[in-house]
Amino acid sequence: MITRSFKINTAEPEPHIIKEAADVIKNRGLVVFPTETVYGLGADATDSEAAEKIYFAKGRPSDNPLIIHISKPADAEKYAYTNEIYYTLTEKFSPGPLTIILKKKDIIPNTTSGGLDTVAVRIPDNIIARALIEQSGVAIAAPSANTSGKPSPTKAEHASEDLDGKVDMILDGGDCRVGVESTIVSVTDGNILVLRPGGVTVEQLESLGYSVILDKGLLEAPKNDFRPLAPGMKYRHYAPKADVYLLDGDECDVVSFMLSAVADSSDVGLICYEDMDISGEHVKYISRDINIAASELFDILRYFDKTNIKTVYSVIPTKDGIGLAVNNRLLKAAGFKMIKLSEILQ
Ligand code: TXA
Ligand code: MG
Repeated sequence: MITRSFKINTAEPEPHIIKEAADVIKNRGLVVFPTETVYGLGADATDSEAAEKIYFAKGRPSDNPLIIHISKPADAEKYAYTNEIYYTLTEKFSPGPLTIILKKKDIIPNTTSGGLDTVAVRIPDNIIARALIEQSGVAIAAPSANTSGKPSPTKAEHASEDLDGKVDMILDGGDCRVGVESTIVSVTDGNILVLRPGGVTVEQLESLGYSVILDKGLLEAPKNDFRPLAPGMKYRHYAPKADVYLLDGDECDVVSFMLSAVADSSDVGLICYEDMDISGEHVKYISRDINIAASELFDILRYFDKTNIKTVYSVIPTKDGIGLAVNNRLLKAAGFKMIKLSEILQ
């Protein structure tokens, strides 16, 4: 298949290109489009055959359900059974990086819901995504537009590295603002259960007065019997080819460990802060501003994938705000491997 890519004007998306992309969706095709979090790989959420193409293009296990994207909260009525808390949450955070799990209606095929009786609903805050959903006139099912197991794409180039030749169209809307995926919540007994930390922070959710509970395993290695509530969280996502270790310790110990690691081997990559004054071929700087760090992380992980380095050592950014999501993705990239420097540098 020939994939056609279009650079889109992010102030005023070209109506004729959006119309063409919407026609692709209506005709059971695949369109990669930008959202504020990461790029999505979209198809008609109500069409089983279209949704099947998504799994095939990504190489995604069929038990891993898709998020459906709509343009305004009330549109969920067509696809799912909403409730009061859905409207409270969407009033506060939509459009934005929040995904809410609801009981699905029959119009959503099992292919889209990965066989579950629930469906994940999200209202993205990106002008191109919104225009595409509105023109298509249907909910768009879209996982992140990467090959299964690779870091999510935050640039159109990332998506085309993975999906060129496998999708009909790629809409290039530049870099994604948030850079980590949406927060996924399910609402049970009046509590908010976070299945995946993301762009809407736990602190923001708590500000609504609900108690917010984190699904086990988001920040610690899953036990053998652990079954995450978001099926996708069980897969080793965000896994670069290299072995990744997070360095836990005082910052001066982290710096000396990193300096000796790069001095000893050319096979080592680092994720550190620029002001640590460490340089080298495979040294990548991540911002101390956690919002910026979130938008840099996946591009850094993809960089390491393109090299032949064997090991990556990383700082551990703050867990505050969106830092919880950054830590979760880094931990998954590391397969939860952490080096406690106080124990080895005695
Ligand atoms: O920011 C995002 O959410 C991006 C953009 C494109 O919207 N999408 C995204 O989709 O990250 P994906 O498919 O890469 O991740 C969706 C996650 C998976 O872990 C999946 O298992 C979970 O959501 N999920 C989807 N439907 C679910 C459901 N009904 N119940 C529980 N988890 C669900
Ligand atoms: Mg994904």
